Amino acid sequence: MKLIFIGPQGSGKGTQAFRLKEKLNIPHISTGDIFRENIKNNTELGIEAQKYMNEGKLVPDELVIRLIKDRLSQDDAKTGFILDGFPRNTEQAKALSEATDIDKVVLIDLDDATAIERIGGRRTCKKCGTVYHVKFNPPKEEGKCDEDGEELIQRDDDKEEAIKKRLEIYHKETQPISDFYKEQGILISVDGSKSIDDVEKDINKKLGL
Ligand code: AP5
Repeated sequence: MKLIFIGPQGSGKGTQAFRLKEKLNIPHISTGDIFRENIKNNTELGIEAQKYMNEGKLVPDELVIRLIKDRLSQDDAKTGFILDGFPRNTEQAKALSEATDIDKVVLIDLDDATAIERIGGRRTCKKCGTVYHVKFNPPKEEGKCDEDGEELIQRDDDKEEAIKKRLEIYHKETQPISDFYKEQGILISVDGSKSIDDVEKDINKKLGL
């Protein structure tokens, strides 16, 4: 199954994609995670992307499209994938249509106030990237990852100014692409304000899983 997850910051795209990839045994391809991995390893791509990410801006299309085309051409993505964080504007959506077919687009909806509350409490494992929330999805031991015991940290782009910018860009550039997929009859929407388990159930039901 070839899937896209769209939704505002904090709607739970990464959280839900992580659960679904286990169920479907397909790769979870998050452009944000790929950039963060490159920043951690101090690569040329990471250095370039960080300039935009820390300010809450989009990384230039040319860079992201090249990266995704390359990732989708790898063997593990031939039969299916979950794209999380791509496409984010019409330019990227058009480039993706030229590269591959998509079965379903899952829109996880959430209001801005809840999104900001969620992002403020998000903690991520420094090593493996597992995502937690101090209130809604806490680790067993405070500040430590359940998977590998590593330290949990806050993302650099989760500062208030960057969050506002990211939400503004979402409404202006990313939200409109849901219409592009609606017209193709492949868009499904779920209410992201429910609990993590309930959002998961809704997604599975609407995907017929
Ligand atoms: P990216 O990493 O994709 O971030 P994002 O889109 O801003 O999304 P988030 O990771 O903030 O939210 P999410 O929906 O995944 O929420 P999560 O599951 O973590 O992108 C970062 C940056 O990279 C961009 O700003 C841009 O600069 C660049 N970039 C990436 N892709 C690009 C592209 N295509 N083009 C150009 N630039 C690009 O959940 C959030 C929190 O809420 C967690 O703590 C979680 O535990 C909790 N939570 C989740 N679901 C629930 C629930 N149902 N109830 C309660 N709590 C919940």
